[in-house]
Amino acid sequence: MKYNISDTAQNAKASEVREILKLTQTPEVISFAGGLPAPDLFPVEDIKNVTAKVLEEDALVALQYTTTEGNDDLRRAIIDQRLKPFNMEASLENIMITSGSQQGLELTSKMFINKGDTVIVENPTYLTAISPFKSYGVNLATVNTDDDGIIIEDLIETIESNKNVKFIYLIPDFQNPTGRCMSVERRKQVVEIAEKYNIPIVEDSPYGELVLEGEKLPTIKSFDKNGYVIYLGSFSKVFCPGFRIGWIVADSALVEKYVILKQGVDLQTSTIDQMIVARYMQEYNLDNHIEKIKDLYRNRRRCMLDAMEKYFPENIKYTKPRGGLFIWVMLPETEDSKEILQRAIEEKVAFVPGQPFHAHGEVRNAFRLNYSNMPEDRIEEGIKRLGVILKEIL
Ligand SMILES: Cc1ncc(COP(=O)(O)O)c(C=O)c1O
Repeated sequence: MKYNISDTAQNAKASEVREILKLTQTPEVISFAGGLPAPDLFPVEDIKNVTAKVLEEDALVALQYTTTEGNDDLRRAIIDQRLKPFNMEASLENIMITSGSQQGLELTSKMFINKGDTVIVENPTYLTAISPFKSYGVNLATVNTDDDGIIIEDLIETIESNKNVKFIYLIPDFQNPTGRCMSVERRKQVVEIAEKYNIPIVEDSPYGELVLEGEKLPTIKSFDKNGYVIYLGSFSKVFCPGFRIGWIVADSALVEKYVILKQGVDLQTSTIDQMIVARYMQEYNLDNHIEKIKDLYRNRRRCMLDAMEKYFPENIKYTKPRGGLFIWVMLPETEDSKEILQRAIEEKVAFVPGQPFHAHGEVRNAFRLNYSNMPEDRIEEGIKRLGVILKEIL
């Protein structure tokens, strides 16, 4: 049959980069491409233990439908353990559980975007945010970033020169892809801008707790007293991505709308998964678990940066992130990282080229490296191989 599919489906193109990277999913390839957490640290025994308890004590609830807002114990645990300690005030009516923070991005697009509206994103930004935004027919306005995050003067100019700006999408902590953090001063300034221009901020912070060096910076949400910031959180990088559990914190009226929108998408996030995570948070100490993740990533990051220093040619610049999962590499302007990737795959090493992180695809001479997923000996070997290729090409 010839299907008469929608314009949205018509326009949804398989990412060229993802297709290339599929080739790299074999054990012999040293992959710095995905944003995968270290599986060695998934607390498997603890999860087995709490899963058994949930099924022994509460199976009929765990296997039943639940509310769209999400499991109350889980929402309370998130408020007490992941929001309050970071000065984010919320009560149950301000929080909805999502199927990963990726669903938060999809629902936020549904919530705000009419065809032709503008959404402001950092340049570069998380590539899998670009696609849901675009699928709603948005005009994506990009604002350049520097070592302190989004450049405020450019943000103001972009707001003033675009119609119907619906929200500003920011990843202030250990940004994907650059690994940079937005300065505290700019965090305060963007809240003032949101209030002045009446434009909400979507703060996406899956990496905020993975501080490997220095202090954790206050969230943008913690400066928001009037409901201008929609905060997206996730267990993917601080627990296990396989549960697919994230959360949205927003003004209660907005959460009511999010609930209605989510019903049309999946009714609710898995009941049993929410109960397992809630029980884990009651019985174990997630903060201690996060400390273990940080210890491991600190070593892997150090190993990658040391190897880059040793093996990369000198005219290559890269970020030295204080946390998160990624290092952003900037090549001389004439280079195309997609071509370098082809060479790298021949040498069985992979990364993500920079172009798809730019909403308009204009930057080709950068790429993203991930250090969370490979053990140190593979990191050293992979960077060594990349160094040879880069020296050859440049
Ligand atoms: C910035 C950012 N937002 C959202 C997500 C989606 O995460 P989740 O697993 O919670 O859906 C990711 C995943 O890598 C990400 O990097």
